[in-house]
Amino acid sequence: MRIAVIGSGYVGLVSGACLSDFGHDVTCIDKDERKIEALRRGEMPIYEPGLDSIVAGNVKMGRLAFSTELGPAVEVADVVFIAVGTPSRRGDGHADLSYVYAAARELAQSLRGFTVVATKSTVPVGTGDEIDRIIRETNPAADVAVVSNPEFLREGNAIDDFRRPDRIVVGIADERARQVMTEVYRPLYLNQAPLVFTTRRTSELIKYAGNAFLAMKITFMNEIADLCEEAGANVQDVARGIGLDQRIGSKFLHAGPGYGGSCFPKDTLALIKSAQDLGKPLRLVETTVAVNDTRKRAMARKVIAACGGDVRGRKISILGLTFKPNTDDMRESPALTIIQALQDAGARVAAYDPEGMEQARSLLENVTFGSDPYDAAEGAEALVIVTEWNAFRAMDFQRLKSIMATPLLVDLRNIYRKEEIRPHGFAYVSVGRPA
Ligand code: UGA
Repeated sequence: MRIAVIGSGYVGLVSGACLSDFGHDVTCIDKDERKIEALRRGEMPIYEPGLDSIVAGNVKMGRLAFSTELGPAVEVADVVFIAVGTPSRRGDGHADLSYVYAAARELAQSLRGFTVVATKSTVPVGTGDEIDRIIRETNPAADVAVVSNPEFLREGNAIDDFRRPDRIVVGIADERARQVMTEVYRPLYLNQAPLVFTTRRTSELIKYAGNAFLAMKITFMNEIADLCEEAGANVQDVARGIGLDQRIGSKFLHAGPGYGGSCFPKDTLALIKSAQDLGKPLRLVETTVAVNDTRKRAMARKVIAACGGDVRGRKISILGLTFKPNTDDMRESPALTIIQALQDAGARVAAYDPEGMEQARSLLENVTFGSDPYDAAEGAEALVIVTEWNAFRAMDFQRLKSIMATPLLVDLRNIYRKEEIRPHGFAYVSVGRPA
């Protein structure tokens, strides 16, 4: 299959690289010349474990190429994936579809022969209809099938998620397109990954409903964690106890500082907006967003309380800045709100993150960045784990105790147990577990 991927951001690049790895002939396209130049040199614009070697291997084999020009790749393509961004529209929370529609208009002019145009970008229900309309208006002679093919990749796990998906969802109305999409995903299909064919609108909604459900699941556990703290119960045991019920499932039950990232916050908002527009408001999702928003500042209050109620002029050290481990992505990271709230309360903040500090420097003011966890912890009155990087899971607490002003660990991801921390002479505060 010949495949063109429009948009070489997170989704486009990972999908394009993995599709070329299946043996397809893939061109990843982006308007950003610097990004394309860097990719041609083998430099990745994002941190994603394993991506660089897949890109390098497939470029070498001649199956993966990068271009700023959409025309030549689209002309010969069997499938054109649209994988451009759909950020939250400033002001109203709707998904901004201007990049998607611009891509549709531009690619329409280069369509030759039967071509499937598959939307990988996360788009509100009904967007495929508009893409279809734009393409046919721009190029009435085009022989095209517009399908929805949402992605379910997690940052930091994207390669594995692509290769071993729980399912592949394709929203389709055309039998020829169905055959083409089956061919695209044949290697996965042979690996038993269920290929779910449905209508385009249903497929678009599956993506949003999935992310909203996961955001709700996390937020539910975060509220249960607060309840556990008051009730003297242990949220991790509650998670295990309910998660073993297969109707609930054990994943995404980790209480923490609230969800962040490039997907859950924007997708829940966009779904809320679509539902309101259709006159069917989703009150559970609305509440999830509100509860998650208040949680981040509540985490800062938790730190302040652990410090005795006053952090004015005191140094607090933050470990982990990205919204989750194994990414350099700082978008909607709980660390941003927590740090701001601590600074508002008068604290001096130092921080360390294995991959996120470059992005963090442009987003945070008056933060001192350490060269490692110990450098950041020097002289601190509290060490706060905000992101559960592996590098924080086996720290030297004797060393930390000797360099910190006060030995206090606030573990917002529950990666330690009080039984292992307190013998080192540390005070220990975690989320949803008995003090
Ligand atoms: C999420 C979905 O998991 C993917 O399936 C989806 O494809 C993607 O959004 C997307 O729409 O593109 P991602 O945002 O990369 O993936 O990361 P997650 O692993 O889902 O984590 C999201 C947030 O939830 C993080 O802040 C994480 O720390 C938090 N989280 C996750 C918890 O607090 N507890 C959990 O149990 C799980």
